[in-house]
Amino acid sequence: MKNVEDVVQWVNNLIVDKTGEHLTPIQEAILTGVWQRQKYPQIAKEFNCSESHVKKEAAKLWEKLREELGEDLNKFNFRSKLEKKHIVSNISHLHDSLLQIDNVICGQFIQTIKDTQNRSPSPPDSPQNKERSPIINLTEAPEFPYFYDRTSELSTLKQWILQAHTRLITIYGLSGIGKSAIALKLIEQTQTEFDYIIWLSLTNTPTLSTLQTELKQFFGRSQQPPLPTIIDYFRSSHCLVILDDVQNIFKSNQLAGQYLTDYEDYGKFFKQIATSSHQSCLILLSWEKPREITALEAVNRPARTLHLKGLGEQSTEILIEKELTDEEKWSDLIALYQGHPSWLNIIASTIVELFDGSVSQFLADETDIFLGDLEPLLESHLERLSDSEKKVLYWLASQNEAVDILRQPTDSDLSQSEFWQAIQSLARRGLVEKVLVGGRSMFLLNPVFKAYIQCKLNLI
Ligand SMILES: Nc1ncnc2c1ncn2[C@@H]1O[C@H](COP(=O)(O)OP(=O)(O)O)[C@@H](O)[C@H]1O
Ligand SMILES: [Mg+2]
Repeated sequence: MKNVEDVVQWVNNLIVDKTGEHLTPIQEAILTGVWQRQKYPQIAKEFNCSESHVKKEAAKLWEKLREELGEDLNKFNFRSKLEKKHIVSNISHLHDSLLQIDNVICGQFIQTIKDTQNRSPSPPDSPQNKERSPIINLTEAPEFPYFYDRTSELSTLKQWILQAHTRLITIYGLSGIGKSAIALKLIEQTQTEFDYIIWLSLTNTPTLSTLQTELKQFFGRSQQPPLPTIIDYFRSSHCLVILDDVQNIFKSNQLAGQYLTDYEDYGKFFKQIATSSHQSCLILLSWEKPREITALEAVNRPARTLHLKGLGEQSTEILIEKELTDEEKWSDLIALYQGHPSWLNIIASTIVELFDGSVSQFLADETDIFLGDLEPLLESHLERLSDSEKKVLYWLASQNEAVDILRQPTDSDLSQSEFWQAIQSLARRGLVEKVLVGGRSMFLLNPVFKAYIQCKLNLI
């Protein structure tokens, strides 16, 4: 929703539809405050009443929403559930059907999607009707309670899709950095530009032909007669296809972005999407950048890549959510964990468990980066590396500064070409980053991985 007034208005309309009664001013103030992530004392102050009054009224309000909407809303989940509801209701144009909205709020998203699929016997593609109402299937998409910021990345992605008509976009970055989250937000913000939107996960490594069959079934339901290939659908309609967890079709223990045996045809498919003329967009979400994408980007602007990094200062929202204290230390904590939303979520939980939320106490020992529950996540990246990457990574972990790759380690048995390929591959996984030092390109190992590797080396 655009702003908090819309949200309150929307809830008000729902309640009026159900009960004939409007929200009271204090109920409106509570919803406004909760949406803006304010705590009850703050809401009380702004409404000029006691905190206990706000608490009492809030309890009544959540109870009313529970009774009328059949959903367990509270100050923690209110915003996320409403945001989700809004995406779906917007997509499906189901605002006026409380029953279907209730289905969504109760998590019966699949049912609603089926309803929208049954709704349209022909593609909603009409030149006069610029505001489209797409047919959408997000059954394989994850759900997230919160979404903060990413304003600049979203505007880049929207520019690529809507103005530059980019046909193939790869969003790559570490696991948990927010690739799926940003793609869902992108759908919300661009949905009216498409006729079809579908999210497919490659977690179970479907073959290309299985994937294409699934896509054809989705597009074909409303297009008679069915078209022979995916590209035909991409030409005849505006389709947005998101493939999530694409790293699953890449080999482990090899340089980044190499297809599993029998999955090489995916590479050809991606290339065809990038190079053929059509009016659709395929978005790949991956831990690794596919190898051929670099070549495609060089010659063909309709393919672009976004390396997704941390959330930056906006990560404070995560710390607010976890009710951490010592605000003056938050930027240190965010910098240490690079604004990585999953890492910060995990570390914030540890801070609550061990230090009752005190960031100062947690950061008291400034020498070490605490890893704790991050270790399995870090390990899942390391176990995919090739031998040459591991050698280079271990060497990088022993360096104090960014390295000039013209200065190869003297004790290494790798040739220069193997060494450069390994660095390139580590960068395609987002583990190593290029930085400019005194006008020269230098390479830096991600500090959290560096700490993890040093910790492993000490154990050996
Ligand atoms: N912009 C964001 N705002 C708030 N939380 C986020 C954001 N991006 C990611 N997260 C949180 O971080 C976690 C990982 O995000 P996800 O999109 O699944 O990462 P990825 O797809 O890169 O593995 C989720 O719990 C999600 O809620
Ligand atoms: Mg994901």
